[in-house]
Amino acid sequence: MTMQTYSYRDVLAASERVDWSVETLIGGEKRLDFARPFMPETLARVRALPFLSADEQRVLNQIRGRTYLSIFGLVEEFILPFVLDHARPSLREDDYRTRALLQFATEEAKHIHLFKRFSAAFDQGFATPCAVIGPADAVAKAVLAHPPLAVALIILHIEWMTQRHYLDSVKDDQQLDPVFKDLLRHHWMEEAQHAKLDTMMVEALAAAANACQIDHAITGYLDIVGFLDGGLKQQVEFDLSALESAIGRQLGEAERARFRSVQHQANRWTYLGSGMTHGRFAGTLAGVQPTGALRVAELAKDFH
Ligand SMILES: [Fe+2]
Ligand SMILES: [Fe+2]
Repeated sequence: MTMQTYSYRDVLAASERVDWSVETLIGGEKRLDFARPFMPETLARVRALPFLSADEQRVLNQIRGRTYLSIFGLVEEFILPFVLDHARPSLREDDYRTRALLQFATEEAKHIHLFKRFSAAFDQGFATPCAVIGPADAVAKAVLAHPPLAVALIILHIEWMTQRHYLDSVKDDQQLDPVFKDLLRHHWMEEAQHAKLDTMMVEALAAAANACQIDHAITGYLDIVGFLDGGLKQQVEFDLSALESAIGRQLGEAERARFRSVQHQANRWTYLGSGMTHGRFAGTLAGVQPTGALRVAELAKDFH
């Protein structure tokens, strides 16, 4: 691959136009409204659980919002060092590249902070604690053990997935808590630049790799997807416990089984399928290796 899809200069300029601060989104007058849902139904899928009352469905929706903050916190903890490592070997090569990548890293550090601030606000307002998978450094270590091209692919998947969440499900949803929705909107605004920078990272790493290394990277990417899927399965168990303690009753065995299957699939679509099947992600992957794109598309069928 020789052609570059985007320009560092344009991405940097866009990022400078967008810039916002954490403090304007949460704190002071900006409080979460627990009378409203936090997540769009296409991602939360609480209505597929009719044995929960409308209030209980809203509580589960909010737990899924809390999980969303934690899972993004987790993935951004490996994105940040990866971007810094990618920038460092050629800091003098292209000033726009250096600045755009450092800006990318700064924004991810800001997002980590933003998600922590929202998580703290959530925990203050929610009656019971919600457990989350992790710890972040163990997840980062497991992911970063894969070849850089595999890691760049999962990051590209995550960035496009964020775009899709906002545009397809959040933007036109008038039911959502406005403060939580604003977090999703501001995240989307900066992730749009990250998706472009990641595309350039994938293109650069793929251009420097031979066929065998590319094969290895795609297998690595699929391994990371499998690793994250295992984490999501565990998260569903945590969410089930959090829901039962928040609503003060235990579900029956058949209800729990339905909960596990619906919510695991909802999590798979949220964090895996919606990225794997994003047109831009699939297009970049097909440019790296057409057969790899087919392998990913095949697996994504399980994540709808
Ligand atoms: Fe982010
Ligand atoms: Fe990002």
